Amino acid sequence: MKQELLDYLRCPRCAADSVPLGVSVVERRDGEVLAGHLTCPAGHAFPIDQGVPDFVEPAGGAVSDVYNIMWAAQARQVYVGREDEFRHKFQVFAHLPGPLEMYFSDKVVLDAGCGEGRFTWLASHLGARQVVAVDYSREALARAKAGTGNPPNCSFVRADIMRLPFRRVFDYVISLGVLHHTPSTAAAYRSVVRHLKPAGYVTIFVYGRWTLPLVIWPLRCLTLKMDSSRVLRFCDDWGFGYESAHRRRLPLGRFLRTLGRLDVLGMGRVTFEGLTTPYLREHSVDEVHRWFRETGVELISCTRLVSASGRRSG
Ligand SMILES: C[S@@+](CC[C@H](N)C(=O)[O-])C[C@H]1O[C@@H](n2cnc3c(N)ncnc32)[C@H](O)[C@@H]1O
Ligand SMILES: [Zn+2]
Repeated sequence: MKQELLDYLRCPRCAADSVPLGVSVVERRDGEVLAGHLTCPAGHAFPIDQGVPDFVEPAGGAVSDVYNIMWAAQARQVYVGREDEFRHKFQVFAHLPGPLEMYFSDKVVLDAGCGEGRFTWLASHLGARQVVAVDYSREALARAKAGTGNPPNCSFVRADIMRLPFRRVFDYVISLGVLHHTPSTAAAYRSVVRHLKPAGYVTIFVYGRWTLPLVIWPLRCLTLKMDSSRVLRFCDDWGFGYESAHRRRLPLGRFLRTLGRLDVLGMGRVTFEGLTTPYLREHSVDEVHRWFRETGVELISCTRLVSASGRRSG
């Protein structure tokens, strides 16, 4: 854990900005706290494990298991040194006016639901002062740390985005492909945007109406009843779309994978995550407009898919 992070944190149980967290160090290396505890004056304590402070309550860990399995199964991505190769992947920001650097450079950025850190890396690469990458999957955070190369301007935090341990310190909040996987997308949006400073920017991506392949809904009726590791084997064998690190497809699975590439029945967009995540929702542009309006965020731009950005009133 980097020292800078302490300035942004507050106790999520006391949930008052004036309650700072103190750190007790068990192991420190290269200026980072690798092991120790964060504690608040009321005595709430949160462990720091392998440099990552952990704010997830023990009972809250179960849902993240699906994501631990998902991230562990995927081929690893390393971003460092592959800037040009990955830059084109960041279409999700294409609707923003002006150069992307403008939103990140020298800014304090929250990447809520960072996954393996592709946007954390982008923010870091575009000159953010500090990027705080949050996820509740340990596997995701380990990959994000490794994939970004853990640069000095990135911090990693294990937390549930519904209960974030931060003060209102962020110039830019991004949450891409995450909010629609929580019990309430609108509540999750409000939870992340709460930490945005006045005049700060926010960008979210949620599935637009009718953008998920229809075949996913009947499949989910089956797969949500199955153990996630079995679903993973099913995806491997039958060629459902994710970049598997295992690649042990049955011959028919290879054929289906080819159909998937051609997107027959939208099969190329049926993913392990889509089949196993307990929450999966699509949203209309109108809904997103309403969430922005209700939180005092002025809409800058919104696509049908839905990628949307706005700016909080000053
Ligand atoms: C589809 S991935 C998106 C990752 C990343 N934003 C990207 O686009 O590459 C969704 C991520 O959100 C995380 N996530 C889902 N619900 C969460 C929650 N309530 N709190 C924290 N992380 C969550 C999952 O662990 C997963 O890594
Ligand atoms: Zn406390």
